[in-house]
Amino acid sequence: MKSGDRMDFYIGLDLGTSSVKGVVFDNKGNVVETYLEEYDIISKKSGYAEENPLVWFNQTIKVLASIKDKSKIKGIGISGQMHGLVILDKDDNVLRDSIIWCDNRTDVEAKLIEEKIGFKRLKEITGNIAMPAFTLAKLLWVKNNEPKIYNKIAKVMLPKDYIVYMLTKNHCADYSDISGTQILDITNYDYSNEILESFNIPRNWFGKLVDSKDIAGYLTADIEQLTGLENVFVCAGAGDQAAGAIGNGIISSDDASIVLGSSGVVYSPIDELYIAPNGEVQTFVSANEKKYHVMGVTNGCGTSLKWLRDEMFNIGYNEMTSLAGEISAGSNSLYYLPYLMGERTPILDTYAKGVFFGIKNTTSKGEMIRAVMEGVGYSIKDCFKLIKGKKTNVLISGGGAKSKLYREIIASMINHPIIQIKQDEGAALGAAILAMVAGGEYKSISEACKAIIQIDSVTKPIKEWVDLYEKCYNIYKKIYINTKEIFKEI
Ligand code: XUL
Repeated sequence: MKSGDRMDFYIGLDLGTSSVKGVVFDNKGNVVETYLEEYDIISKKSGYAEENPLVWFNQTIKVLASIKDKSKIKGIGISGQMHGLVILDKDDNVLRDSIIWCDNRTDVEAKLIEEKIGFKRLKEITGNIAMPAFTLAKLLWVKNNEPKIYNKIAKVMLPKDYIVYMLTKNHCADYSDISGTQILDITNYDYSNEILESFNIPRNWFGKLVDSKDIAGYLTADIEQLTGLENVFVCAGAGDQAAGAIGNGIISSDDASIVLGSSGVVYSPIDELYIAPNGEVQTFVSANEKKYHVMGVTNGCGTSLKWLRDEMFNIGYNEMTSLAGEISAGSNSLYYLPYLMGERTPILDTYAKGVFFGIKNTTSKGEMIRAVMEGVGYSIKDCFKLIKGKKTNVLISGGGAKSKLYREIIASMINHPIIQIKQDEGAALGAAILAMVAGGEYKSISEACKAIIQIDSVTKPIKEWVDLYEKCYNIYKKIYINTKEIFKEI
């Protein structure tokens, strides 16, 4: 660690699905200030999910401008929702709202990618089978459906790279996030000419490839004026899951993390490149020394409880979880499939939809809330089962992890203790750690994680729930198997 009398502070920016959060950390990872600005998903049609990049930018500026102790800020690290498509014209105007990660319109384009490149070859190049969630499918959707817009494209960016661009005027892309576009050749760490040429996509639409901890640039004079920050660098940053792994200290293949955010993710680093035979898990580049990780993703995690809160009950999360806590495990045989936005792991089905199964005339709010938490839990169990190898430490983070009940449900379902760390800032801390390494506070990400991350508490499986949840999980699985064909008709 650097010595000297001035302590530098670093901002971890997390451009999420429902908000942008800015957390100021000292160089030991202690939280100094936190600001958050929200936005909504725009859903013009069922299965569509878009957000306005200018709203992200304006909210980011608000967050940065709110920071009180600006003179101590040395650098900014950024983490962002993955896979979203941001397209700009030659004058840097945003051409359309961003089609974000949980949008499900691109089934046709995903099939086209698979046909053109070939199932096996696509996996070899990108580490993944064709998925509607990934950016390439979204770009081809614009080509097929909005040709006038497509013809004006001069730059293609991921959500956080757009923010980095707006802050520094440097167009770059870090390996972790760009590995979720299906344009990166993940073994050569370069854009794949084979993929770009197959679809006639100009290479110069994409940013310079850089490491997550590389400095993308300094805040421009305009941004300094808007925010009051001066002489502050911005790191290239990482996709939210890769940044979250660092913020939870998950850098060894013995460890795994569960993130209960808008999406639910089970993540584990791998020592050697592993590509799942049929897309059971996704393989991406991590933000730590360009190693790899696998992850399973359930689309409708936080989104499920948010939907129940906003559209059905209009009560706060604390009241919701306390109502759920009054209900016994198994929710009196009420089941929930969390497929509000289609699903990735393990069923890879863009047609899938949410289901409550087993409603009775006695079904209560509490049962519905607990059933939603349990439904998400089963989906997390689905992901966890696919992450191979015995895991020593399983960490949990994200908004959902703040609930003791949620942690107990998940620990019992996967029958493994789950650890919470003291600094529960996840992706924001991971992003700030990248900036701390860039700022010379630590020699490496692993050195920073060792110095900063501390275990807070361990939630153990509840014995009586373990067997019950195993039985209920089998019923949960049967509900999807028996309804999956019907989703295509509605
Ligand atoms: C990961 C994924 C989500 C988003 C939003 O593949 O799609 O986790 O990054 O958080």
